[in-house]
Amino acid sequence: MPSSLPRSLAELPVRRLTPSDLVACADLCEDRGWPRDEQRWGLLLTAGTGYGMDDPGGKGLMASCVVTSYGPDLAAVGMLLVAERYARQGIARHLMERVLEEHGSTPLSLYATAAGQPLYDRLGFTVVGRTQRVTGHYRPGDEKPRGVATIHPATAEDLRAIIRLDTGAFGTDRTHVLARLPAFADHIRVARAQDEIVGYAALWPSDRTHVVGPLIAPDTDTAEALVAALSAATDLPLRADIDARHTDLLDRLEQRGLLPSSATTVMTLGASDLPGDWRRRYAPLTVATG
Ligand SMILES: CC(C)(COP(=O)(O)OP(=O)(O)OC[C@H]1O[C@@H](n2cnc3c(N)ncnc32)[C@H](O)[C@@H]1OP(=O)(O)O)[C@@H](O)C(=O)NCCC(=O)NCCS
Repeated sequence: MPSSLPRSLAELPVRRLTPSDLVACADLCEDRGWPRDEQRWGLLLTAGTGYGMDDPGGKGLMASCVVTSYGPDLAAVGMLLVAERYARQGIARHLMERVLEEHGSTPLSLYATAAGQPLYDRLGFTVVGRTQRVTGHYRPGDEKPRGVATIHPATAEDLRAIIRLDTGAFGTDRTHVLARLPAFADHIRVARAQDEIVGYAALWPSDRTHVVGPLIAPDTDTAEALVAALSAATDLPLRADIDARHTDLLDRLEQRGLLPSSATTVMTLGASDLPGDWRRRYAPLTVATG
């Protein structure tokens, strides 16, 4: 049964979320049939800024949204969720309008679900790309890996080089997020060529899957080699949100057992495209952070 709002929307306060809201955020995900992803919320509520609306009926949170700021040129919006019992009453629009006010002229990016896209269209976001989610168990082949890079587990000494590489591919420095990667991810692999790190990828847990992201590589061979190396580190099925322009990688992953499932639409407001080098950017860290 949908809950009705006791007072006008404009009166409902939007407050900052803190790590103490983590369980309420996870409950909201569960309410919408999403994985609870407490580990991801932990990252988002420390590296980003969470916005929430308390349920006037006293049942935890009614709505959430997180913005991860990457300086004056980019901030990523994610985890816009409204509890099912309050659906289609303008709550998401109200929360997004407060978020847009707060972020002024900073260009914003997001990965929209089919449910979210109509709202973002109305708020002025434009479509700049698409990701294809693939899921399944990666089946390694018998042939020797293609490409010149060799794949290794990342060490603490690699972090500086990873950040340097990532800044070029992502388009802006995200040290505050990547510094948390060793605690967030279960496995990190780097690709080396001529003693230089040319790619990297991480694997983090979500429900009963392991998500590949970020996936940064100079070419398809290296991207696939990173996925293959990460798949060898887990018995769980993999999930990855691959930039749909990387059709070569998507074809190869499908041949190896990672099948297409849902898609998201990449949208921006205040920028004509995402910064950085999409050719090296195969998958975001999470669709909530870019
Ligand atoms: C997407 C979501 C946040 C929308 O929340 P909501 O509070 O129901 O949305 P609102 O009531 O503010 O609706 C905003 C606008 O989008 C439209 N809209 C909302 N949901 C829609 C849907 N599923 N399909 C088409 N249009 C939709 C509304 O008609 C409204 O338009 P208008 O006010 O300009 O006429 C909510 O459905 C949700 O939590 N879904 C699951 C999580 C998700 O997909 N989040 C988006 C991540 S990108």
